[in-house]
Amino acid sequence: MNRSREICLLPAAESVFLKAMNWETAAVPPALGAGEVHVWRAHLGGAAAGGDPPDETALTGEELKRASGYPAGEPRRRFLTSRARLRSLLSGYLGAAPREVRLAYGEQGKPSLREPAADLTFNLSHSGDLLLLAFGRGRELGIDVERTGRDVSWERVARRFFERREQEALRSLPAAERRAAFFRGWTRKEAFVKATGRGVTQGLRTFAVSLDPEAAALTWIQDGDPADWGMADVDAGPGHAAAVCAAGRGWSLRCFEPAPGR
Ligand SMILES: CC(C)(COP(=O)(O)OP(=O)(O)OC[C@H]1O[C@@H](n2cnc3c(N)ncnc32)[C@H](O)[C@@H]1OP(=O)(O)O)[C@@H](O)C(=O)NCCC(=O)NCCS
Repeated sequence: MNRSREICLLPAAESVFLKAMNWETAAVPPALGAGEVHVWRAHLGGAAAGGDPPDETALTGEELKRASGYPAGEPRRRFLTSRARLRSLLSGYLGAAPREVRLAYGEQGKPSLREPAADLTFNLSHSGDLLLLAFGRGRELGIDVERTGRDVSWERVARRFFERREQEALRSLPAAERRAAFFRGWTRKEAFVKATGRGVTQGLRTFAVSLDPEAAALTWIQDGDPADWGMADVDAGPGHAAAVCAAGRGWSLRCFEPAPGR
């Protein structure tokens, strides 16, 4: 039997087949079309890993204050680096100075653009030294990355948070494939709740995603239509699972890495 069909929760014809495999190098953000989603990958490694220290002058007082709440050393430096990268990319897409970019925060903490007025949407996720950022035009989006080798009781998390269809799909797989399928499902679920901005308050059992490696898709939403959302896996590199979810179908995905030294 074709396993893709077996574990896909939608008939193949209805599922979205999108997977980002190629990373283009770019010095500055290229034009972002209305039908596109851009994902950027950056490393948060410090000077020891060959990276520059974060440009703190680009950050707002509020961000610097927030940074001081992180333990000194790696956690603080990673937050600063991630914010500096976000501001630099937002500024590139908007054609505004990084400090002129003002952010707002939703009820559950989702950051969005407050100023300058523009239809640019974005989201970000970090895991260890890896940062992924997603950008779109006028469409809500969410992105999630996880390290798949980390010490986590994934079977317990799946029992607690996976929806019935997802649990069945996981059980139907050979034991050796289940860990990867869990992280695939988990990042797809997180990408969706980050796209809606509700985070875990969304209720992780109020919707279901496919665990099929060939077809990232929402397959069921309690109070909505999965066809309103598109989803794609992102090839974040060995030892990582990542997915991006954005409102609407039919958008295309391009993935970028900063040019060396940027
Ligand atoms: C924020 C949340 C949606 C995702 O958190 P996370 O996976 O721990 O962290 P990520 O790195 O993917 O995302 C954090 C970023 O998302 C953004 N964010 C915060 N709240 C958000 C929300 N409600 N919706 C969308 N994005 C949000 C922020 O930019 C944040 O980065 P910053 O703090 O540096 O600005 C969180 O509510 C959540 O779902 N936590 C669950 C974590 C968990 O149980 N993990 C177990 C893994 S097996």
